[in-house]
Amino acid sequence: SQVRHFQWEVEYMFGSPDCLENVVMGINGQFPGPTIRAKAGDTIVVELTNRLHTEGVVIHWHGIRQIGTPWADGTASISQCAINPGESFEYRFKVDRPGTYFYHGHYGMQRSSGLYGMLIVDEHGNREPPFHYEAEFELLLSDWWHQSVHDQQVGLYSKPFRWTGEPQPPKTHNRRIILLNTQNTINGFTKWALNNISLTLPPTPYLGSIKYGIHEAFDQKSPPDNYDDANYDIFNPALNPNSTYGNGVYTIKFKNTVDLILQNANALAKNVSEIHPWHLHGHDFWVLGYGEGKFRDEDEKKFNLENPPLRNTDVIFPYGWTALRFVANNPGVWAFHCHIEPHLHMGMGVVFAEGVRRVGKIPRAALACGLTASVNP
Ligand code: C2O
Ligand code: CU
Repeated sequence: SQVRHFQWEVEYMFGSPDCLENVVMGINGQFPGPTIRAKAGDTIVVELTNRLHTEGVVIHWHGIRQIGTPWADGTASISQCAINPGESFEYRFKVDRPGTYFYHGHYGMQRSSGLYGMLIVDEHGNREPPFHYEAEFELLLSDWWHQSVHDQQVGLYSKPFRWTGEPQPPKTHNRRIILLNTQNTINGFTKWALNNISLTLPPTPYLGSIKYGIHEAFDQKSPPDNYDDANYDIFNPALNPNSTYGNGVYTIKFKNTVDLILQNANALAKNVSEIHPWHLHGHDFWVLGYGEGKFRDEDEKKFNLENPPLRNTDVIFPYGWTALRFVANNPGVWAFHCHIEPHLHMGMGVVFAEGVRRVGKIPRAALACGLTASVNP
């Protein structure tokens, strides 16, 4: 067995783990911290220097039993004093058993700041692992918040406390669009429709035609925010399955909060209602709830506004409804459609336009077809 020495300095640095720059805690300028690789029976020596300016620090070796070295466990207030800014502490301990471990800060909420890394202990000496494998890679999973740990701490210690978490959804909506999903026929062809309109895309892309006010490019009448027959029986094939093609657009006021209620129904054949994964472009949405049967206004009371999942695709179950909320804060023209490709091709989608005036200079190549081919941006 060997003694493995490491010299580590802990300091704050900039990092963008999910492409959004933030302050993270690094070790020797790395986030996550360097991987320690050792063999069972080895002794690890980490000389840890605290380069933070205003906080103490400790590091805990998660899963290592610290037999005979309880002072090296790295828990502030439990096994050791926090290491003050500018000071160093030597962790010296034995890794007696092979395994995939990790290490992490154990003072305040420094783990949430990114103070962690991997600790991998291989078999003793030349001993082979008890199973055969071709290759390995290291995967380190952790929660990540955009809120700084200081914000998180203050929130948790407030009265009433504020739970650590991202953009809860706005509490109310400005507009509700209920989309009845039906299977229909148009001149004998089988189609899918929303509020009785089956989407057919125009030759001129909406983004350009809306930005340049080319009204002939598509149907200027907005599709309806609801289906008109309040007594529509979603549990049976439609009495009149006829539908129409359409390419109108839902124009959403910029920054409005929109609720989308997807209402499933019976398809053309008796006792058939399909599942559809609806996908929204350009946004994430909050999933506020699901229900069976027909959506009723009072179902709104059951919406989950506390911790709804944030996604960009969600299903609508057979004979059920799904409620989604999004904020129209992304200038552009965006599709919202069933992600089963044949369904979209059969008309199962709608189009939202928001804040198109604010869209920057559209590249020529994106306008080179249809009625925008001749505009000169
Ligand atoms: Cu991955 Cu319009 O979809
Ligand atoms: Cu579908």
